Amino acid sequence: MCGIIGYVGPRHAVPIVIGGLRRLEYRGYDSSGIAVLAAGGFKVARAVGKLSNLDPRLDALDVAGGGTHTAIGHTRWATHGGVTEQNAHPHLGRTGRIAIVHNGIVENVAALKAELRLAGIEFASETDSEVIAHLIEQGIAHGSGLEAATRAALLRLEGSQAVLAASLDEPGRLVCARIGNAGGVCIGRGRGECFVASDVAGILEHTREIVFLESHQLASVTADGLTVTLLDGAPVKPRVQILAWDPVAAEKGEHRHFMQKEILEQARSITDTLRGRVDLERGEVMLEELPLDAATLPTRLTLIGCGTSFHAALIGKFLIEDIARIPVDVDYGSEYRNRDPLIVPGSVAVAITQSGETADTLAALAEARARGSRCWAIVNAIGSQAQRMADGTITMRAGPEIGVASTKAFTASVVDLTLLACALGQAQGGAMAARAREVARALVRLPNWVGQLLGPDPVYDRLAARFHHHAHCLFLGRGINYPVALEGALKLKELSYIHAEGYPAGEMKHGPIALIDETMPVVCVAPRDRAYDKMVSQIEQIKARQGIVIAVLTAGDHALRERVDYAIEIPAAPEVLTPVLAVIPLQRLAYHLAERRGCDVDQPRNLAKSVTVE
Ligand code: AGP
Repeated sequence: MCGIIGYVGPRHAVPIVIGGLRRLEYRGYDSSGIAVLAAGGFKVARAVGKLSNLDPRLDALDVAGGGTHTAIGHTRWATHGGVTEQNAHPHLGRTGRIAIVHNGIVENVAALKAELRLAGIEFASETDSEVIAHLIEQGIAHGSGLEAATRAALLRLEGSQAVLAASLDEPGRLVCARIGNAGGVCIGRGRGECFVASDVAGILEHTREIVFLESHQLASVTADGLTVTLLDGAPVKPRVQILAWDPVAAEKGEHRHFMQKEILEQARSITDTLRGRVDLERGEVMLEELPLDAATLPTRLTLIGCGTSFHAALIGKFLIEDIARIPVDVDYGSEYRNRDPLIVPGSVAVAITQSGETADTLAALAEARARGSRCWAIVNAIGSQAQRMADGTITMRAGPEIGVASTKAFTASVVDLTLLACALGQAQGGAMAARAREVARALVRLPNWVGQLLGPDPVYDRLAARFHHHAHCLFLGRGINYPVALEGALKLKELSYIHAEGYPAGEMKHGPIALIDETMPVVCVAPRDRAYDKMVSQIEQIKARQGIVIAVLTAGDHALRERVDYAIEIPAAPEVLTPVLAVIPLQRLAYHLAERRGCDVDQPRNLAKSVTVE
């Protein structure tokens, strides 16, 4: 996924665009670039790698004098074309009078390039995005203005796109548009200035008045405001939202990394997730954005997510089937469509997505809706596509999650799934309502239990010192904590680049146990839950083959503590709440190992915070 930023207004544009790119860098950091509109033409700077590599080139971009300043910027996560300066955005047309930045994939790029080559165009890059600049330039050459030329160009493209364009012929104007789920486009209205960004993180420090573009919408933006139309030109009344999201929360503060901050603020973030949603007196759950009653209860739920959100969905299956006795399917966003999903009457598809912009998840949700399913979303990013697509939502309220590896959003989504399970049980009355009350009353104790896991603990430094040279690691869990093993493995591999696999512990004897020897560390999630005895047995099998066992176990479990090589304790809690507790030691383990290995904790190689391409 890439980040796009634009500014038009009286202030110098470079620091505003660069500051916005810094807040969007987590979206992609293969390369970056900026184009500033100046009298003699666009002043452009591009650099491969981190945004900071652009700094030495910024002085040359200064545009002296007053008047209106216009600039666009981009951080790239490479899809078409290698990570080179030539492929970095912004891209200019042949005459250099048009500059564009782009997020998405032009699926018909081959045909368009062939057509443009026939018209004498020579491409300066390997990217698909560059064709957009040439198409807009062609429109302008035939007498169109920037808005009409951009509209015409977009109508030629296949696939999901987010585009932002500027023209020397129309200083003080930006044109932006969105097609499909390529990742958002939002416009911020300031006092005599306007901003365009992929998501609000890039512009919230300047304004809270935000207009989110829907798919197939185009905006023409000047310092005085914006007009919005559909791609066919029909006017649209822009809906201005005043966002409460605090941009300061997106700062690192005294922490070394965003990920460290986001791990350590989970007691607070879970408190925010729960706030106002559990009536302690009655032990009842209240989901304001998702009204439920017996008449509209789902007959079946399909939980859909990718990566960490998929792991939350797996936990959601255990929670909802245990508490509300409603059957649940779980699927990867990228796989859902491939299985020709059957939708039974009364089905509900639930997208679980921190960013609300993950293309695979959004496409699956759209598929479910097209087949007649109701659609809900458990989402963190306010105003995101998933939130706007869904019939009902449960927001995570985790605050901005900047670290590419998801931590507080994962625990927030599991808490939201617990709240959903309780609300579904509650709506059915009887024994299920009683079970829901029991869980809801325990749920409010979760922030305190989580807080006990966030203090300084030398075990993580000891584990990092011992295992930072290891190339492999296994994670095992059973039942509701099997997905926690998957999540621990994902955290470790995406942060430290150590090969890690998560397995249902019961599967070890069916093959993977052949991997066990004295060089293999095995993390076992073994709290006192219904699978505890079986987990202890698995640990014995690993120890019998000289495996190294790192156990996450319930505080006070001295017997198991004696049997393993390393133990990390979690507070005793009802089984349904153990995943949120058990995952925190695994987040911290991955963080410390990645730090020890000198990896880039907040922006691991090859990754992006939200993958808005399929
Ligand atoms: C999380 O650590 C990963 N970086 C990644 O798997 C992420 O969970 C996945 O891309 C889904 O993102 P979403 O929750 O924003 O949809």
